[in-house]
Order: sequence, then C-alpha cells, then structure tokens
Amino acid sequence: DELALQERFDARIDAGDFIEAKDWMPDHYRKTLVRQISQHAHSEIVGMLPEGNWISRAPTLKRKAILLAKVQDEGGHGLYLYAAAETLGTSRDQLLHALHTGKAKYSSIFNYPTLTWADMGTIGWLVDGAAIMNQVPICRCSYAPYARAMIRICREESFHQRQGYEALLTMMQQGTEAQKAMVQDAVNRWWWPCLMMFGPPDDQSPNSAQSMRWGIKRVSNDELRQKFVDATVEQAKVLGVTLPDPDLKWNEERGHWDFGTIDWDEFWRVVGGDGPCNRERLGARVKAWEDGAWVREAALAHANKQAMKEAA
Ligand code: ACO
Repeated sequence: DELALQERFDARIDAGDFIEAKDWMPDHYRKTLVRQISQHAHSEIVGMLPEGNWISRAPTLKRKAILLAKVQDEGGHGLYLYAAAETLGTSRDQLLHALHTGKAKYSSIFNYPTLTWADMGTIGWLVDGAAIMNQVPICRCSYAPYARAMIRICREESFHQRQGYEALLTMMQQGTEAQKAMVQDAVNRWWWPCLMMFGPPDDQSPNSAQSMRWGIKRVSNDELRQKFVDATVEQAKVLGVTLPDPDLKWNEERGHWDFGTIDWDEFWRVVGGDGPCNRERLGARVKAWEDGAWVREAALAHANKQAMKEAA
C-alpha cells in the first residue's frame, strides 16, 4: 500500500539510491522535479537568445564558429532536459505552454541585455561558470534521468566557460584600452545578476529543505554562491579586472571571501517578469513557436498519410 511504498522510497533516498522513471515516487517529488527540470530546460532555450544576438557580429570566423557551437549546445541541453522532464509524465506541449503563458520560470540571468561583444566572453566566464557550480552537484541528483542528462551538459558547459574566459583574456592581454574598458564594463553589469542565479538565501528559499532531503539538491543556494565567489575572485585577478563590490574581502577566519549585499528586490522583480528584457525574451519564444506552426502541421499531415498507407 501507499505507506509501505513511501517508506521504501524514503529508505532508498536515505541509502543514496537513484530513482528511475518507472519507480514509485511521491507526487510531490515528481512535481518538484518537473518544476525544476522544466525551468532548467526553459533556461537553456531562452539562454540561446542573448548570445544568438551576437552570432552575426562576432569579430572573427573563429569566434563565430565557437559561438555558433555554444548556442547550438544550449539548444541540445534544452532538449535533453525536456526529455528528462517528459519521463515524469508531463508532455513537451504542456511544458512549452507553461513557458509561453508566463506560468513557468526560467533563470533570471537571461533577462539582461547583451550590449557589447565583451558580454559574450563574460557570459561564458561568469554565467556559465555559475551554471557549472550549480549543475555539477545535480549530476548526483537522486532522479537518475536528470542526473544522466547533467553529466553530459556539464562537460559542454565546461567548454563554454573556458571559451568565454579565453575570449576575455585575449582582449585584456592583446586588446586596446577601449577593449579592456569594454571587458570591465561587461563584468560590472553581469557580476551581481550572476550571484542572483543561485536563488534566494537559504533561509528564504521555500523549496530547499525538501529538495535537499530528497537529494534533488545536494548543495545549498548560499553554499554554491560562496563557492562561486571564492573561485571567481582568483580568476578575476589573472584576467586583470575588478569585481564591482567594495565589500569583497578575504575573511581569514571563515576561509572565504566576504561579499556585499545582493539586491534581492531586483532579483524578485526580474523573476516576476519585470526585468530589462523579460518581455522581449518571452516574445521571441512565442514568435518562434507560432512561426513553427506550419512545420508541426506538415509533420502531422505526413504522419497521418503514412499511417493511412500502412492501414491500407
Ligand atoms: N531565476 C529565476 N527563478 C529563480 C531563480 C533564478 N535565478 N532562483 C530561484 N528561483 C525561483 C525558484 O524557481 C522558486 O520558484 P518556484 O517555486 O515557482 O519554482 C523560487 O525562486 C524560490 O527559490 P528556491 O526555493 O531556492 O527554488 P529551488 O529549490 O528550485 O532552487 C535553483 C532554485 C537553485 C535555481 C534550482 O531550481 C536549480 O538548481 N535549478 C537547476 C539549474 C538551473 O535551472 N539553471 C538554469 C540557469 S543555468 C543555464 O541555463 C546556463
């Protein structure tokens, strides 16, 4: 009965077992996973837009090829993740409908504009750097189809992060004064929104306790944010840029970098739909869906014809 199933599930989670699609799971576990995985998928797909903006303006053929490959990877990540969400019994149409009607969330970070070429490098270095920090622990998520998708995604994210850092390093070491200033300006604009990517502070994160209990989340929002700051400060030194936080200071006692206060009002505003580019991003996704209607109709007509042929 239900109680025995629940007990067996809890015991498996406690033992560090992975749960597969066909295994029994509590409703709330399933819902939490659909919520997180579909938001994650939407983030990948919406995340293609700010960078897609620069493909036709990349400064060299090499940079263009790299950017094209990266944006294509993000499309692929979205597809692995939609497929993982589908194993939980929610259809792709339902997931996309929730995105297009503004019901589903996607990462706040993709609602900021990409104003210069240095934004491409900075997104790789900081946005993808933050994404990796958050995503590596998800490779051990208790839901196996999600964990498996994340292993492949993290390998590709690592390339994304490196290509961004390398693009910035080239500008900082071989660029003109104007190019160096462009890098610093991009870092100034992206730093704080990147810290917000990890989600609200632990004591204000409604989903954390249960998700940690279930092994969906392995490391908390604040802990990941701190790890990201600690890793990034050193990388900024090598790059020769300053991080825009006067309170950034090594704390000997904690063995971590202290950092300033995050503007959580801005975070909730952006999550709530009122960031600099929310309307533009959602509009672009809805338009792509509508523009693709003829493809879906043609595919359906073709499938029906094939089925009729087989029946005849
Ligand atoms: N942007 C938008 N919404 C966010 C963000 C963010 N940066 N951080 C938290 N939220 C939302 C949560 O989705 C939740 O809303 P919901 O209950 O309606 O879903 C609410 O704020 C409260 O947050 P938490 O209780 O902390 O939510 P959760 O436990 O799901 O943790 C986190 C949030 C850390 C983002 C988690 O969902 C996660 O690890 N997701 C997978 C990684 C991911 O989505 N990455 C996308 C960006 S990286 C990339 O695509 C390149």
